[in-house]
Amino acid sequence: MKTTFQRYALVVLTLSLLLPLPTFAEGGKDSPLHNEMEAINRSLRLINRQYADPAQKASTLELVATMQKHAETAQTLTPPKSDKMAAADQAKYLDTFHKDLDALIKEIGLLKQAITAGTADATKAEIDKISQLKDSSHKELGVGGGAHKHGGPPPPAPGQ
Ligand code: HEM
Repeated sequence: MKTTFQRYALVVLTLSLLLPLPTFAEGGKDSPLHNEMEAINRSLRLINRQYADPAQKASTLELVATMQKHAETAQTLTPPKSDKMAAADQAKYLDTFHKDLDALIKEIGLLKQAITAGTADATKAEIDKISQLKDSSHKELGVGGGAHKHGGPPPPAPGQ
């Protein structure tokens, strides 16, 4: 009885130790950069949900600070896609990556100003601008799901 249980427990333990191993170093879904990006995404979504409520202003500003922190951390990381590039392509790719994140951090500063000033229209405009920056940067860098949706042929005009 005891031996069977112990053998079973050993198998389960071994399997549970082996399972998470291959995910990390490969980048993509579990890369450190991916985690920062997900956190930026989450903060912006929550900001978008609550910015119009003056009672939540302090909490909204905290979310902006969180988003800024994750964008600054992202600046210190390397996009997994650049790992296997030739040196010249890699330098160009990393330059775009850093330039886009600089632009993002600047817009986060403007978002903070708009929320502090309590101007809902300017806040909304900044949220939209950050969303657009995300789309254009991801497209430029060839990442983030939507990358394949762009650039295809336009849909046929109605009636053709
Ligand atoms: C403007 C500067 C930005 C740059 C340079 C940038 C760069 C990147 C890169 C290189 C990846 C791939 C990460 C990986 O393969 O592990 C990525 C993924 C992602 N980014 Fe960004 N990003 C930017 C802005 C944003 C913003 C503003 C958001 C959200 C509001 C965002 C949300 C995401 C998400 C959710 C992913 C994961 C998507 C997926 O892999 O399907 N990013 N980004």
